[in-house]
Amino acid sequence: MPAAVTAEVKTYQLYINGEWVESRTKKHLPVYDPSTEEVIAQVPDANSGDVDRAVEAARAAFDHGPWKGATPQERGRVLFRLAEKIRQNAAMLAELECRNSGKPIVEAEFDINDVATCFEYYGGLATKILGYVNPVPDNAVSLTLKEPVGVAGQIIPWNYPLLMAAWKLAPALAAGCACVLKPAEQTPLTALEMANWFPDVGLPAGVVNIITGYGESCGAPLVSHPKVDKIAFTGSAAVGKGIVKAAADTVKRVTLELGGKSPNIFLADADFEAAIDGALFGVFINQGEVCSAGSRILVERPIYHKFVEAMTAKARTIKLGPPLERETKMGPLVSQEQYERVRSYQELGKTEAKVATGGGRADRFGKGYYVEPTIFYDVANSARIAREEIFGPVASVIPFEDEQAALSIANDSPYGLAAAVWTRDIFKAFRVVKGLRAGIVWVNHMQPTYVEAPWGGYKQSGFGRELGPWGIDEYLETKQVHINLNEQPIGWY
Ligand code: NAI
Ligand code: MG
Repeated sequence: MPAAVTAEVKTYQLYINGEWVESRTKKHLPVYDPSTEEVIAQVPDANSGDVDRAVEAARAAFDHGPWKGATPQERGRVLFRLAEKIRQNAAMLAELECRNSGKPIVEAEFDINDVATCFEYYGGLATKILGYVNPVPDNAVSLTLKEPVGVAGQIIPWNYPLLMAAWKLAPALAAGCACVLKPAEQTPLTALEMANWFPDVGLPAGVVNIITGYGESCGAPLVSHPKVDKIAFTGSAAVGKGIVKAAADTVKRVTLELGGKSPNIFLADADFEAAIDGALFGVFINQGEVCSAGSRILVERPIYHKFVEAMTAKARTIKLGPPLERETKMGPLVSQEQYERVRSYQELGKTEAKVATGGGRADRFGKGYYVEPTIFYDVANSARIAREEIFGPVASVIPFEDEQAALSIANDSPYGLAAAVWTRDIFKAFRVVKGLRAGIVWVNHMQPTYVEAPWGGYKQSGFGRELGPWGIDEYLETKQVHINLNEQPIGWY
């Protein structure tokens, strides 16, 4: 397509206190289409001054705005109306998500549907925040009340841009918090488009503020801001560790989802066809840019060679292509930085293990951050490609001798986000489920995610849980109330 036909470059603003405003920096950062490497938009390159404005707006909204008095039913209705807007505009959002992130359009459509479902789920949950009556022995009524934690700073990644925004905003709003959301600098567009509907759905000014910028200049000041009560973060382990340290000075509540190196375990009795499919789906969906990617594929020795062969043959049929084409099953990686990171792991893998397929750039499109779906086999679990999160379509296949060996390899990782086991034997399945140190375990599948079920990791995959009732709990404080029913003086002195 000639350059003249490309869509115009739209310049966005920050969304603060219910208004679109310029950044104090007057600077912008470019947003790309990773399949063409062209700039498709510009967003403000916000700094600590902008963070301050956004936090002040959220603080005021939380402390004395109309949101403070909104009933749970009213909060719920705001979320239902937002979900409806998202459903009405699903095609536009999916296309924008697809163009900006490089994910195949069909996957983007799934994501946008999940976004709406997430707002609907938490719209319903807003009226189901329950307290307790504590059975204390004294002549008293002892209550536990749940109250919103306050102003939440929410820092999200680029792999599921609007869905990660929904996972953070929906429970926070259902709980009654006010939010400052910082999308990833690579993929801020769908969150900004969504902000257009905030006034229509009845969200008071300042309740959700969206600021765009880089991690150090825009994310870090949010983490250290004294008027922010909580930080919810999804992203790299390195940044997550820094956030815990930076949040210490103000004793902020922190929840972290830091990805992993999740094992996908295949016992010899597993349904073979389903297993091959599940291994590929587990690691290659969304170009492998998935925190729960099944990037360590553990295969029991009797089926190992047949498995590697079948997986390789099928991987070679995966349709790479422009993300907007409906037949595309794998698009480009999100950015040049991510492309270079994944390419370097592909090269490293060639020195650490054997290549079954892939290992390089997918060149046939000329432009775009495409890499070949890559499978390494005979990988030692001590290899860097088996220990470090790659976040691209790169699989490490590791043989094992028996169930115990599978468990010790699976658990020999600094991470513990997710895991899967494939077998038709219920005894084996449950033994492995119980032996795995991971926050999410699938049996005979990998990746299905439900808003009703908890999401989060063990070990260095982070702490706290998103989704379900667990997700809202992370945005609630617990207040103990003691009501004395004894009308006499205490009588101690
Ligand atoms: P990152 O962790 O640097 O970025 C995630 C978010 O954190 C972005 O919004 C970014 O602007 C922000 N951020 C960066 N530095 C910050 C700081 N000092 N203070 C506050 N916020 C900060 O992730 P990046 O560099 O895009 O990807 C690197 C690796 O991280 C990937 O290769 C992958 O292994 C992992 N990752 C994991 C994700 C997950 O779902 N758990 C999502 C994205 C990346
Ligand atoms: Mg980074």
